[in-house]
Amino acid sequence: MSNHFALQRPFHTAIIMDGNGRWAIARGLPRTAGHCAGVETVRRVVEAAPDLGIGILTLFAFSSDNWRRPRTEVDWLMALLAEYMERETPRCIEQGVRMQVVGRRDRLDGPLTAAIARCEAATAAGTRLLLRIAVDYSGRDAILAAARNLFEPSREALDRALGPPVDLLIRTGGERRLSDFLLWECAYAEIIFSRRMWPEFGAGDLAGAVREFQGRQRRFGGIPAPPAPAQRGEAWLD
Ligand code: FPP
Repeated sequence: MSNHFALQRPFHTAIIMDGNGRWAIARGLPRTAGHCAGVETVRRVVEAAPDLGIGILTLFAFSSDNWRRPRTEVDWLMALLAEYMERETPRCIEQGVRMQVVGRRDRLDGPLTAAIARCEAATAAGTRLLLRIAVDYSGRDAILAAARNLFEPSREALDRALGPPVDLLIRTGGERRLSDFLLWECAYAEIIFSRRMWPEFGAGDLAGAVREFQGRQRRFGGIPAPPAPAQRGEAWLD
């Protein structure tokens, strides 16, 4: 039981990157400029993550509900993602980052699908950080799709079919909701909301969130672990 209370290192952090549009509008820029600035934040965060003990980083880049946005913004986001995959591949290889995209692929355009496949294949050997980018992703749809394929539904089977459990969930941009992100995987996630807009979020903010996370007591429905017995100098069990 005590293992349940121990901090898992390396741990899984997931981020809802919110606030690009508002950041841009506040500066008299088009919303798309906010997404471009947001890519720079992605670079900063990916670079900082492994040294903070993050082994898996999942970023919410495009939700299945984001198709409702104007076509021009959707096209811009898709092009940004394809460019990011192409451009970041060498840096990912150099930094030991393995990139994976989660979500539906059948509605993505050809150039993006091809860029994803190339990037995933080229970075497959990375072991320092697993970077998962959620594109056309819906937590509810992911659970439905996984459940449909199960012969015998159980928590364990769904755990295996979906992704790794989230330890720390961060949402920037001042909103406080889950927006259909990793619903099953976040069952016991510690949640931290930041008022910073995503383009302004820095490595220091990520480090601060990790510090707060590490200070929290995770009980998973149990009770606090008893304090460790005082050292007696010898390895007596009683
Ligand atoms: C939410 O901000 C952000 C998005 C829907 C897109 C996030 C995309 C990026 C950061 C760039 C591409 C990603 C990667 C991984 C390279 P919003 O537009 O909803 O902002 P608002 O709430 O201020 O309108």
